[in-house]
Amino acid sequence: MRSICCGELRTSAIGANVQLCGWVDRLRDHGGVIFIDLRDRTGTIQITVDPDKGKDLFNTAESLRNETVIQINGKVRSRPDEAINSKIPTGEVEVLAERIKILNSVTTNLPFSVSIHDEESIKEEIRLRYRYLDLRRERMNNNLKLRHDTVKTARNFLEEEGFIEVETPVLTRSTPEGARDYLVPSRVCGGEYFALPQSPQLFKQLLMVGGIERYYQVARCFRDEDLRSDRQPEFTQLDIEMSFMEQNEILELNEKLIANIWKKTKGIDIPIPFPKLTWKESMDRYGTDRPDTRYGMELVETSDLFAQSGFKVFSKAISGGGCVKCIAIDQGNASISNVRIKPGGDIFSEAQKAGAGGLAFIRVRENEEVDTIGAIKDNLTTSQIHELLVRTSAKPGDLILFGAGPTDIVNKTLDRIRQFIAKNLNLISESDLSNKWNFLWVVDFPMFEFNSDENRLEAIHHPFCAPKTEDIGEAKSLWQEKLPNANAQAYDLVLNGLEIGGGSLRIHNPELQKNVLEVIGFSSKEAEEQFGFLIDALSMGAPPHGGIAFGIDRMVMLLANEDSIRDTIAFPKTQQARCLMAQAPANVQNKQLEELHIASTWVDPE
Ligand code: AMO
Repeated sequence: MRSICCGELRTSAIGANVQLCGWVDRLRDHGGVIFIDLRDRTGTIQITVDPDKGKDLFNTAESLRNETVIQINGKVRSRPDEAINSKIPTGEVEVLAERIKILNSVTTNLPFSVSIHDEESIKEEIRLRYRYLDLRRERMNNNLKLRHDTVKTARNFLEEEGFIEVETPVLTRSTPEGARDYLVPSRVCGGEYFALPQSPQLFKQLLMVGGIERYYQVARCFRDEDLRSDRQPEFTQLDIEMSFMEQNEILELNEKLIANIWKKTKGIDIPIPFPKLTWKESMDRYGTDRPDTRYGMELVETSDLFAQSGFKVFSKAISGGGCVKCIAIDQGNASISNVRIKPGGDIFSEAQKAGAGGLAFIRVRENEEVDTIGAIKDNLTTSQIHELLVRTSAKPGDLILFGAGPTDIVNKTLDRIRQFIAKNLNLISESDLSNKWNFLWVVDFPMFEFNSDENRLEAIHHPFCAPKTEDIGEAKSLWQEKLPNANAQAYDLVLNGLEIGGGSLRIHNPELQKNVLEVIGFSSKEAEEQFGFLIDALSMGAPPHGGIAFGIDRMVMLLANEDSIRDTIAFPKTQQARCLMAQAPANVQNKQLEELHIASTWVDPE
């Protein structure tokens, strides 16, 4: 149907007769001569339609609408000097049309223009509803190619390292990763449900028990959780598991994998090994376990300075078991007015969203003088100010913001403010935004955190992560007691403030696995019911094993410099977990529900 693609034509093709297929990107009538920009997946080429070549040909060209699908025969020729377009790779040549065949016309109004010449911002809702048109646009086309290249590079790398891809079931039982399950009712086993996998976690571990040793899978995962720009209800993991590897060996292999992906897809050399931060250090210095290290403004601990402070907000926070921390903002005095940090201001409201009740601040002046307002003013001693300036390295002109209260809220508040201000004050330069790749391993996560709503411990990653051996010791009888305070042999890969992967060494001892399930509140009956198959498998010669899963959508989002993972997925869901194009989810017939032994309790609020 075609002899060459539009975007492939160069001066070397001058004189050749070609047959091209594609979409009319746009049409320009230049007083007698018609120019068609013809687009296919490789790019666009200018087609010139000369009236001398016949009336029929000219009439056909004149009648073309944007996005009509056509086939063209013609001769490649060079463009006159003044018509050379250096912005596109085919800009030195054009094709003089001899025949145009309409393969399919556009018979309805287009909701938006696909042409790269009309990059006006189209509402995302419209883009998602007509996703097939959106995908024709250069940006989306490039993103999907980049996604393909990313996955292909990963596959090649892993296969070279002896990994094989194994598919695991999609109809399965719940694998706890902290989100709600998507359930599928069983018709044949009435009253019972499959859960779609939140990850292939248990199956990949069972593959290790099955002697596969090196597994990977490009795996679709399903999580019914609140959606954000970096979360989708169905997303894709590059899921990896391996046996007989220590943690440092696993990290090393994955650093090579990541460096390979960046090199092959972007031509960028990423230095390895990546820096490592323990979870505790990360929380202390950034207030989060996925810090963006492209800018400073680290959190500074000041609880000891203010334990006896007359400023009750501070001293009470500390006596109540919490903390007082601060961040110093370089030149903050010049760029951040009091209005913004007092109630009603944008920065204050960020603090509120993180759960903070207030936001104390001081402004640093010359000679260790400070300006401030409110009750803190009369309660700052010279030595406190001196020590504060030493710890924060704040200079005259800087603004210091405080968080005081329960440690988790202080961390959340200062993390949120740190990110907000970095964006607001453009602390990451334009070129760093697309060129700085701050990879970071966060390691030594605690095994558990306290869920105050349910008044119990829950696993930070999932309940299959192995505790650090030194934290639980050899004596089995003490495991139960030591586990709640143990750290896990777990690691997350963070890139520019986003978690792009996470994994751990796994428990391969059935007794220890039972203990961990008990710590998070499973009775032995429940443990047996839900995870009996895993515990059985661990009792039949399970090798030491561990692995990781990367979020492919997130990784491609960062590689493509996009702000949303929706722009890296061909057919994504909206924030309401809907597919606007296929109109899913949708109602089903009562008969189907009956067959599934289901009756809906849903009442339409309308
Ligand atoms: P985890 O839950 O950390 O680990 O998931 C691994 C990676 O998957 C990505 N991710 C998501 N991407 C888009 N939308 C979502 N809703 C979403 N949820 C997670 C993130 C994350 O780092 N079984 C373990 C892995 C292991 O231990 O080997 C797991 O699933 O980039």
